[in-house]
Amino acid sequence: MRRGVPRALGVRALSAPAAMPPTLAALRCNAERVLDEGRELANPPVTAHGWVVSARRQKTRTFLEVNDGTLGGDATLQVVLSGDVRDVAPGQAVCLRGAMKRGRGQRRSQRVELHADSVDVLADSDLATYPLANVMQRHAHDSAIVDIVRRESHLKARTPRFAAMARTRARMELAMAAWFAENDFCKVAPPIITASDCEGGGEIFRVVADADVRERDALTTFWSGHDAYLTVSTQLHLEAFALGLSRVWALCPVFRAEGSATNRHLAEFWMCEAELCWLPPDAAGLHRVLDCTEHVVKRALHAAWDGERAHDDMAFLGAEPHAAWLSAPWPRVPYTEAVRLLRAHHAAPPVWGDSLRSEHERWLADHFASPVFVTDYPSGGKPFYMRENRAKTTLTPDLDPERVGAEEATVACFDLLVPGVGELVGGSVREERLDMLRARMAHAGVQAAGLQWYTDDLRRYGGAPHGGFGLGMERLLSWATHTEHVRDLVGFPRVKGPLRY
Ligand code: 4AD
Ligand code: MG
Repeated sequence: MRRGVPRALGVRALSAPAAMPPTLAALRCNAERVLDEGRELANPPVTAHGWVVSARRQKTRTFLEVNDGTLGGDATLQVVLSGDVRDVAPGQAVCLRGAMKRGRGQRRSQRVELHADSVDVLADSDLATYPLANVMQRHAHDSAIVDIVRRESHLKARTPRFAAMARTRARMELAMAAWFAENDFCKVAPPIITASDCEGGGEIFRVVADADVRERDALTTFWSGHDAYLTVSTQLHLEAFALGLSRVWALCPVFRAEGSATNRHLAEFWMCEAELCWLPPDAAGLHRVLDCTEHVVKRALHAAWDGERAHDDMAFLGAEPHAAWLSAPWPRVPYTEAVRLLRAHHAAPPVWGDSLRSEHERWLADHFASPVFVTDYPSGGKPFYMRENRAKTTLTPDLDPERVGAEEATVACFDLLVPGVGELVGGSVREERLDMLRARMAHAGVQAAGLQWYTDDLRRYGGAPHGGFGLGMERLLSWATHTEHVRDLVGFPRVKGPLRY
């Protein structure tokens, strides 16, 4: 008989002796709730911590605006101190003791304020040299702040704009995690150091032990002569997890030695990847992966606007809610149709077989005025693991006048293109037929040696039909918040060039 472990362990049994002290957001929220309920504030003593954003002195009173990074948008908590308090200045970290009172200001953020009896300066700030001394209260997109924090990443978190971005990102990630959990996806931990280039794109960083570099003739001793890389995508390992757990996901940093300095590319970024088994055959399999993608992205978008603080953050960042994107189903267009559309309307269109350039991707998203799935791309140029479709595409004059009648292969894959950004998600059904997989690997020049665990074992021991996708978190955030450069929404962006941090 099993003993000792109760079926449901009460939260009370797990919780720590004392709850966490309230943040400024909690102090404000608790006080506002009392007012919302039509009651008066009972004014129990409270302790608050934060950084001074501004100080205004009058003869009988001093007003401080204080923030601790938990309020929405550029909101601050107004603090009223009696007397002319001389030694409090912007940038300082302070501890305040007092009581919450009904505020007298007009703005929503001024409904409640803190009347402080005491202020302790916990850490001073050298205003003469503080790069943010004079810019903190400027508009979120003010170029002076953008320039400063691009140079001084370590001060980014002090700016309302980056703080709003960080909170929004956290909300979106939490919502995605909730969607996955509700749908029985298990979060797994794939490796970051890998033995292969999953995408076969060659934009890969090598991992060598420092000691091996110093002893130049033994470059790969640490890995016993094997090559090691930073992962470009956790997909192959996720497939291994999925073929035992049915539905898995991961949110991991991935690395690409991208030479291109665009506003959408980073050398280190976070990819949310999911892999699911038991896909139905043929086109329905791909559409199941699309359904999953659409749900996850919609849930994340919804979370970005859900709640007062979230709303304040998004409004402050200058984002628009785009309610229609949340309610309407997103169009699904085969690549062949996309090429037809582009050839009919675009000034510099592709012919069938070309990869879509970012201007084409953006044109398509604008054309549909919605996120749009483009599916079933030509198999040439797509990674080896994508499943080849049975039906061939016969080229017609409107697809390529020079190759009319040619029979071309496509793969069961997709890109999700979104307005303003372009590609946000890429995914596919995985090739489960070993002979087809080997042919695609040979064609793409992918080294089969070392990948037998993936090619052979995962297929010959119950390799259920499966597929999945990868979503770039920074691109999702840049799309949702209307931020042009992904570098501006990452704390310490890694791009080709000098590395400071
Ligand atoms: O389209 P990608 O290369 O797909 C894969 O890596 C698949 N193995 C994913 C899978 O099926 N599990 O990358 C996925 C997404 C892109 O759509 C894009 O949003 C983002 O990752 N991405 C980048 N984001 C920032 N900087 C870069 N250099 C990026 N490269 C890709
Ligand atoms: Mg892609």
